[in-house]
Amino acid sequence: MTSLKGSHVLSVNQLDLDTLKEIFHVAKQMEPYAKRQKRTKVLEGAILANLFFEASTRTRVSFGTAFNLLGGSVRETVGMATSSLAKGESLFDTARMFASYSDVVAMRHPDSGSVAEFATGSSVPVINGGDGANEHPTQALLDLFTIEKELANNARQIDGMKIAMVGDLKHGRTVHSLSKLLCRYQNIEVTMISPKELAMPDYIIAELDNAGHKVTQTESLVDGLNDADIVYVTRIQEERFASQEEADQYRGQFRINKQIFTNHCQQKAVIMHPLPRDSRPQANELDNDLNEHPSLAVFRQADNGVLVRMALFAMTLGVEKQMSQYECPVNWHTNKA
Ligand code: CP
Repeated sequence: MTSLKGSHVLSVNQLDLDTLKEIFHVAKQMEPYAKRQKRTKVLEGAILANLFFEASTRTRVSFGTAFNLLGGSVRETVGMATSSLAKGESLFDTARMFASYSDVVAMRHPDSGSVAEFATGSSVPVINGGDGANEHPTQALLDLFTIEKELANNARQIDGMKIAMVGDLKHGRTVHSLSKLLCRYQNIEVTMISPKELAMPDYIIAELDNAGHKVTQTESLVDGLNDADIVYVTRIQEERFASQEEADQYRGQFRINKQIFTNHCQQKAVIMHPLPRDSRPQANELDNDLNEHPSLAVFRQADNGVLVRMALFAMTLGVEKQMSQYECPVNWHTNKA
């Protein structure tokens, strides 16, 4: 197992199977804190620099929430225009500053490789919250954690599962990182459903092949959904296209609604999506008529992001075994289940 204490978390490539199991073990221990059944002040006095140079709702806020739930404080910068990067400051210089201001950094940036470049200037751990079309390692971790939990409800496990990935597999960093993590497991059948132009990069297909998984690529949504235990839908990543017109031609090609689900998916298939889903009528990739469907796991998936990010902070700062030592009661009324 690789120790995460004091380490950057930049790519899923650095996470072996034992490390994944340990992250998920620690994440499960975070549930009572995330559900406000109890509190911990284990990171009281520690500061997270939450640097988001590209749009985000879930990742940014759940990183902050996770750190606050561990008792730490959060300082944020949002958007490139309000940062001195807009004045030509390098990522290296920015990192040197934040290593002084904070104990750990979470960062998202539109350019592939940018978070790793930033990390070269940082003496404190840097966690990649998404770098361009490259990787989104914490999303892949929460996705895998969700897959494991959801399959366990059906007495299934990741080894031997069938997963269909749908949509913009070329630009979708979440499916890139998730596919790489699946290579740690055995005998998975992966069906990639996308227009040819938005297919999964060849090097990732090769990694899945080399791991012994069966990979099928298709442009047919209904053929690809057949038999999948997990249906992982993605958004057309319009921000990665040269023009809006180019992105528009693919929008709405692969929609999943209750009728498609009922007619073409296994009854117990689990529907996942990293969110945000594009709910504009011309896209509507996951229809609102599935909102109350028990197979729709997208909000459970997003909730799991807090647990996994708490685990990563606890492990990179080396406090995962001290949680209960710093416990205190919850003083307020809460309706959290
Ligand atoms: N899943 C995800 O990365 O969502 P945000 O872009 O809202 O952070």
